[in-house]
Amino acid sequence: MNAVLQPRLTRRSMTVRDLDAVVAVETRCYSHPWSRGNFTDSLAAGYLAEVLEGGEGELVGYFIAMTGVDELHLLNITVAPAWQGQGHGQALMAVLQQHAQHQGLAMLWLEVRESNQGARALYRRLGFEEVGLRRGYYPAAVRREDAVVMRLALSEARTPRQADALD
Ligand SMILES: CC(C)(COP(=O)(O)OP(=O)(O)OC[C@H]1O[C@@H](n2cnc3c(N)ncnc32)[C@H](O)[C@@H]1OP(=O)(O)O)[C@@H](O)C(=O)NCCC(=O)NCCS
Repeated sequence: MNAVLQPRLTRRSMTVRDLDAVVAVETRCYSHPWSRGNFTDSLAAGYLAEVLEGGEGELVGYFIAMTGVDELHLLNITVAPAWQGQGHGQALMAVLQQHAQHQGLAMLWLEVRESNQGARALYRRLGFEEVGLRRGYYPAAVRREDAVVMRLALSEARTPRQADALD
């Protein structure tokens, strides 16, 4: 598992032209996906939004994050099912961390479903700590699910290396 070994991948800013593919991946990946409107609003608001593309222009993954005064809040990170488990999630997180560090931000925040053990493992591996719970934060089939709040103090984080390979 190493994103550095994927030279044909490119990343760039997300635009409205990406949204057909983004919404298709989003719908496959989540029981309660973001709507096209959620993405359109995020782009209109100027949030940090990037896509990762394969050699044929296919959508590999994407993220959306909101910049605050002194912090970056990750709102969505997704890797398309066919591309999962190959290091791309970790590489996108490295890109995000690099953005935050270039802007001199102190903290990277995110929420994750309590049941999403894969994503939680990824974030813990990257140095995030679990600092709280938001009760009933997410819609769910039966009753709402709690969110685990996680943060990474960027002053203490190692400089990510995978990001360079995706420039
Ligand atoms: C979560 C997600 C972004 C991870 O991206 P990915 O490309 O599949 O993950 P990576 O290949 O970069 O994995 C990096 C590390 O994360 C951890 N990890 C990732 N998926 C995991 C899983 N399903 N179970 C356990 N650990 C996992 C592992 O430590 C892994 O390292 P390893 O492969 O050396 O064991 C991706 O699986 C995804 O989009 N899932 C559906 C949507 C989602 O849950 N998004 C996050 C919402 S908060």
